[in-house]
Amino acid sequence: MAATRIGLLMVCAMILAACEGPAGDSEATEARVQASPYPHGAALYERQCRACHQSDGSGLGNHFPPLAGHAPDLVQAEGGRAYFIDLVLYGLGGQIEIQGRTYSGVMPGFRRLSDKDVAAIINHSVTAWGGEDSLPEDFKPIQPEEVAERREERLNPNQVRERRPTME
Ligand code: HEC
Repeated sequence: MAATRIGLLMVCAMILAACEGPAGDSEATEARVQASPYPHGAALYERQCRACHQSDGSGLGNHFPPLAGHAPDLVQAEGGRAYFIDLVLYGLGGQIEIQGRTYSGVMPGFRRLSDKDVAAIINHSVTAWGGEDSLPEDFKPIQPEEVAERREERLNPNQVRERRPTME
């Protein structure tokens, strides 16, 4: 019962977050966007990802995993670039573990976004919240062409999960 109620609360919170209006309304949002090396990606993140992963990338409870301190590791894992693109395009379902915590949710896919937009969101996610400092100096940002190459795969969220790289 309690779990159901928490679930309902989460859905309400997400709807409220999604209805906040276009990102860029508030000065705080604008400041975050301008601080990113990828302002276009940051603005998209505020619109498309923040409701679940939060503006500071810390996630939300056991429902939405953190991207802060995780996205840079993910993109650097073997096969991580393709996997990151796949999960943004096609979504993700099934059980995963991040920073010692287990998540078993479903993330929607964003196939409707352009190749450029998907690349920009990922580049923002891996460099935001101090992530830039944990990337090697020669890190090559995700290119729109790499996103275009993944469009042929047409995966479902569980197939994306099956391709998740193993991380230490
Ligand atoms: C409706 C909520 C929701 C939205 C919106 C959302 N995500 Fe997620 N995301 C999730 C959930 C839930 C998971 C964990 C899925 C699981 O348990 O299999 C997740 C997982 C992730 C992961 C971790 C994947 C891994 O294998 O470690 C990344 C990275 C990620 N999301 C990035 C994004 C980005 C970037 C956006 C915006 C384009 C976004 N998410 C939008 C809910 C969401």
